[in-house]
Amino acid sequence: MPLLTGARLATMIGPERYGLIPDGALAIEGQRIAWAGPAAALPERLRGEAATDLGGRLVTPALIDCHTHLIAGGHRAREFEMRLEGASYEAIARAGGGILSTVEATRAASEEALIAGALPRLDALIAEGVATVEVKSGYGLDIDTELRMLRAARALAERRDVTVRTTFLGAHAVPPDYDGRPDAYIDEVAIPALRAAHEAGLADAVDGFCEGIAFDTAQIGRVFDAAAALGLPVKLHAEQLSHRGGTELAARYGALSADHVEYATGADTAEMAAAGTVAVLLPGAFYTLRETQAPPVAAFRAKGVPMALATDCNPGSSPLTSLLLAMNMGCTLFRMTPEEALAGVTRHAAAALGLSDRGTLAAGQRADLAVWDVDEPAELAYRIGFNPLHRRIVGGRL
Ligand code: NIG
Ligand code: FE
Repeated sequence: MPLLTGARLATMIGPERYGLIPDGALAIEGQRIAWAGPAAALPERLRGEAATDLGGRLVTPALIDCHTHLIAGGHRAREFEMRLEGASYEAIARAGGGILSTVEATRAASEEALIAGALPRLDALIAEGVATVEVKSGYGLDIDTELRMLRAARALAERRDVTVRTTFLGAHAVPPDYDGRPDAYIDEVAIPALRAAHEAGLADAVDGFCEGIAFDTAQIGRVFDAAAALGLPVKLHAEQLSHRGGTELAARYGALSADHVEYATGADTAEMAAAGTVAVLLPGAFYTLRETQAPPVAAFRAKGVPMALATDCNPGSSPLTSLLLAMNMGCTLFRMTPEEALAGVTRHAAAALGLSDRGTLAAGQRADLAVWDVDEPAELAYRIGFNPLHRRIVGGRL
């Protein structure tokens, strides 16, 4: 049974900050953690095991990026220039750019091209200790392309040592062929595509975009009803650019998460707390769009709403492939603590995906670990553009 010694363990559970165990040991059996705790308390039966001494390095759960759009055709560098020339994200979207320009490129791409395009972005995440990544559809907006995106997302897990969780995001935007007919799009494309994705075993969860430039709560509610009928959990892009009632809707459906949530109100935070819905904060999009209203972090904290952090990696609003930078932004832009930031990419990110087998260092959890060349956990959020990863251990493989 492999044994790690000389480890500072940030277990992310228990009363200590970061669940820190300064002189820790961790035993692995198969793909799971068999034991984690202070070296001095190592059980007799584990004492003879061959040990790998980590020399005092920090060990955290491997990182989890719980909100990405890694699979997408093309890029939107021109839009970046347009915004610098004064155009707004919403104006570009209404003029047929934005999400729809990525839809055009994604529809034109083969499954292999989508995989090849995503791999360098996935590799950048992995290089920073990520071992679980969520990937959404939502740039197809027709049945074939939505399914192709999900197949490409699933294929990433065959090319790299990573768990991929797929989320169906058919209700992301109204495609040009349904311009002005969002209800028809929901009924004729989004819901049938969802059923087909479920039938093919391609969707772990269902998402939507509730916004003035996308869908209203009644339309998203119909998608959520279809998800519930299939037994699939839901999550929602909610209150990103304006308050539209998406968070309240998500909580009513017992959503795993409500994401962005810059415009969530005090009442919304109370409903999320009651429903156990995680707030997934996406500072990369906030930064890129130069938003000014930060999410109500103090209210989430006060009400006990778990906060996750993710890259939202996508070609438009968040071309970000660094979860460490998302942690830094969560602290600097949103005033999260470094401990909240680390919980946001481990324990609470797992909760946002409905995964209870990862995100902390405890017996029985998956042995997905990140080993860091840092003295203390706050360093992970503190540096900007520096990667102190020493190694990643995935599924217990040393
Ligand atoms: O999470 N908010 C909606 N969807 C994406 C943006 C997608 C895009 O601009 O391509 C997001 O920010
Ligand atoms: Fe997103």
